Amino acid sequence: MRTQIGIVGAGPAGLTLALLLQRQGIEAVVLERRDRAYVEGRVRAGLLEQNTVDVMHRLGVGANLDRDGLPHDGISLRWQGETLHVPMRELTGRQVTVYGQQYVVRDLIDACGERGVPVHFEVDGVELHDLAGEPSITFDDGAGRQTLSCDLIAGCDGFHGVCRGSIPAGALREHHFTYPFGWLGILAEAAPAAEELIYAWHERGFALYSMRSPSISRLYLQVPADESIETWPDQRIWGELQARLGVPGWRVEEGPIVDKGITPMRSFVAEPMQHGKLFLAGDAAHIVPPTGAKGLNLAVNDVRLLSEAIGRYFSAGDSSGLAGYGEAALRRVWRAQDFSNFMTQLLHRLDDGDTFGSRLQLARLEQLRRSTAAITNLAENYVGFPATDDF
Ligand code: FAD
Ligand code: DHB
Repeated sequence: MRTQIGIVGAGPAGLTLALLLQRQGIEAVVLERRDRAYVEGRVRAGLLEQNTVDVMHRLGVGANLDRDGLPHDGISLRWQGETLHVPMRELTGRQVTVYGQQYVVRDLIDACGERGVPVHFEVDGVELHDLAGEPSITFDDGAGRQTLSCDLIAGCDGFHGVCRGSIPAGALREHHFTYPFGWLGILAEAAPAAEELIYAWHERGFALYSMRSPSISRLYLQVPADESIETWPDQRIWGELQARLGVPGWRVEEGPIVDKGITPMRSFVAEPMQHGKLFLAGDAAHIVPPTGAKGLNLAVNDVRLLSEAIGRYFSAGDSSGLAGYGEAALRRVWRAQDFSNFMTQLLHRLDDGDTFGSRLQLARLEQLRRSTAAITNLAENYVGFPATDDF
């Protein structure tokens, strides 16, 4: 088998890249380890920046998003019973859209099918070869061991994928930061009791109120990093959500929990996101803690930049875009790292054995209430800075 771009991973990064390339007449083949139902059912992110929505529209995959996505003009921060509304649209002229990652992935897979972009599910044992010369990917499908020769490889296989590990030791610089907590996330058949997201600081720990539709709520709780989901029966989850998010006269709407899981939190960047003819994108190259809602949006921004660079390479033989891909992508990655770390450190219970950290958090929250500059800074980062050629 031969193609121009071999893409490993059918998450948001790999699928979006395949469709951006197809629009430019560049062939790609996507290889995915899991089956289609698993990939389309994986409940994860939900908050799309306007930049991400724009890419989906440009690809002509925005019909369901326009119908079912929930545009939001602001978010709220809640602490010690008080609520501060952050009017993002008023402060920045931009908005965000709540639309589940699994629906994004479903819409992208459907579009690949309609447009003849091959996505091979359930491939095993992916290995990359000759990254500096004539690259190829070998893998097992139902019929045996296959070889896919390609001009370039895009590693879009997430944090636990194989592509980053195919780069020789010493060629990448890795930056790590691990938080001593994780997020327990639930999806519940309950009408959201709030129209916009609520990010809550609480002595018992952080909580987040989000939603997926007028009848489905998505909620998160800070839990210790090594927590087992078995210790969180549904009643305990609701009790904790009411304690952390509730205010006099307002409660979290409860209902059957249809999905629950715990995600660890880390910050991670592998620089320079490329090696020879392999280009990393999305979670394969970087992870942010979810408090800033940036992971999916960064993945889409990476492949927007990468597809433009690949387009220039094939149409004009100009490889300068490819050479500068990592540097361009990393500007936004580091901006998002800083913002995600800021939001995480602002809102989570720090357990540092002292009250100094939590008093600083309250002082920072109070500053957001008093300072237009501070709240505008938060709003600009949250909605995402406009996309450019090098950011
Ligand atoms: P992935 O979605 O991880 O896709 C990688 C794909 O590669 C997967 O399908 C995987 O099966 C496949 N793969 C892996 N290894 C191999 C292999 N060896 N061979 C073949 N295929 C392989 N981000 C936001 O922007 N906003 C949010 O609100 C937000 N909230 C989040 C909440 C939670 C609870 C979590 C867990 C994440 C959240 N994120 C959020 C982050 C977001 O989900 C990720 O950043 C996003 O999925 C990254 O997309 P990706 O395509 O790079 O990687
Ligand atoms: C959602 C997830 C986030 O990490 C976030 O910051 C906001 C919303 C969500 O899944 O809806």
